[in-house]
Amino acid sequence: MPHPYVRPQRPGAVPLLAPKELGALLAGPEPPCLVDVRPASERRLAHLAGDLHIPLDQLPANLGRLPRDRAVVLYDHLGFRARVAAEFLLDRGFDRVAALEGGIEEYSRVVDPSVGRYSDDLRGPELVLRQMPRPETGCLAYFVGDPSARVAVIIDPGQDVAPYRALLADGGWTLAAIVETHTHADHLAGHAALHTATEAPIFVSHRSPAQYPHRRLSEGEAVPFGSQELVVLETPGHTVDHLTLRLRDEIFTGDTLLLGSCGRTDLGGGSPDLLWESLQDKILHLPNETEVYPAHYGPKHALPDRFVSTLGFERVTNEALTQGSQEAFVRYMTEGWPPKPKDFDRIVRANLDG
Ligand SMILES: [Fe+2]
Repeated sequence: MPHPYVRPQRPGAVPLLAPKELGALLAGPEPPCLVDVRPASERRLAHLAGDLHIPLDQLPANLGRLPRDRAVVLYDHLGFRARVAAEFLLDRGFDRVAALEGGIEEYSRVVDPSVGRYSDDLRGPELVLRQMPRPETGCLAYFVGDPSARVAVIIDPGQDVAPYRALLADGGWTLAAIVETHTHADHLAGHAALHTATEAPIFVSHRSPAQYPHRRLSEGEAVPFGSQELVVLETPGHTVDHLTLRLRDEIFTGDTLLLGSCGRTDLGGGSPDLLWESLQDKILHLPNETEVYPAHYGPKHALPDRFVSTLGFERVTNEALTQGSQEAFVRYMTEGWPPKPKDFDRIVRANLDG
């Protein structure tokens, strides 16, 4: 039964290759073609010998570099982006494709310790970015922090705030802000509980009808934390109060742009035409290498188990972004969706009351 929140996607399991299996293949007579799909900044830290380097956003333009008569094994740090890449190659007719399960991290741990390991938290010395999946709701929250100042922001916290409180306490972090990308209609949000626990202010769009104490954000404003800041892009469409938050080369897109689709527009005063304009005028102007961090993943939302992508990759593969015209996009966003969930208006009211 698909989740009624986002558009159902084609099912399709991506073949995964365990690290030990890869180790055996590499030692055998027909080693596969290894492809590193991470950006150069991560590759510098560690990579597997004898591989090709094709970052995910450049994969669509570099299919000619991949062999069709040999198995192709894609890898990244933890296996998430490699799955996206493998799914893409399968769609393009490559039939001997797999993603390295657990990524180079797991390969280094169980097969070859000489391959360097590196922390996914550290994006250079000045930033920590931690994605916090909630399997029970299929939601993704984000913790971003300046490690030298020990000041952090949490984006779209879930109702159970214990994991955030533990993370803050363990790391000696001060929470500078709680940011909601929009009024959620599919799950109870955690901003109120997290505010009670930390006293951090809650930031929402100036268009939000929120009834709880909050600070209002408009286009171009920033939410600072330590030496970093989240910059606000107003992206109405999924809901009228939707914000996308830009942090250096990363964007937190909420449900404006999901991996492979977009969040439906009929639950929170949204509009497919507004969403089209937000995507065309704001999101798609950003560079292809921009990393896309959405608010949902997985089967509960009828989405694939993808956790991060790049704008360049989504630009050419995302069902919503490849409709070709505003008219076709609006049709895509208004036809073929499951019925509205029964309790969405109750959830919206609860989230606005805080
Ligand atoms: Fe949403």
